[in-house]
Amino acid sequence: MRRVYVALAGLQLLAVLAQFYFAGVGAFDRPQTDGSYGPHATNGMMIIPVLSLVITVVATLAKAPGRLIGLSILPLGLVVVQMLIIILGRALDDGTGNTTAASLAVFGLHAVNGLAIMGVAGKVLAGARKLASADGAATRTVTAQVS
Ligand code: HEM
Repeated sequence: MRRVYVALAGLQLLAVLAQFYFAGVGAFDRPQTDGSYGPHATNGMMIIPVLSLVITVVATLAKAPGRLIGLSILPLGLVVVQMLIIILGRALDDGTGNTTAASLAVFGLHAVNGLAIMGVAGKVLAGARKLASADGAATRTVTAQVS
């Protein structure tokens, strides 16, 4: 189970990396259409949250420490913050869909929070690997004691 945890945590980090890539794809797309950020929105609203949820269940089954279980569900919470940032930014536009200084100040936080998600995903992977290697060390100790 701990190896599954490591594998899924690695997959999550890759999905977050892809999220930045898709943000770049959307930014360079010409002409800008509703679909420019399609892969970014799908990955952000579906893949990353589902992975975070599954990883948290697996962390619990793998008997990870409470702090690591909490860290595992954090990307899901931070994705909700990502959406709230966009909702608030849109609410602060000038009424015709154009940005204002206030809406831009809020939208910029979406990139900063994205970095936080990347950091948390990295910490989850590091924690999962530590847990798996502690598991391996314990197994080796027990094997050495009984042989
Ligand atoms: C882990 C990192 C990120 C996550 C989880 C994430 C998540 C999301 C989600 C779920 C949406 C769709 C919101 C909606 O359509 O209601 C979105 C839209 C968007 N994101 Fe991100 N995002 C991340 C990082 C970034 C970064 C680094 C940038 C750019 C620097 C960025 C730029 C945008 C833009 C421009 C939109 C489109 C907003 C619009 O349609 O008005 N995102 N993001």
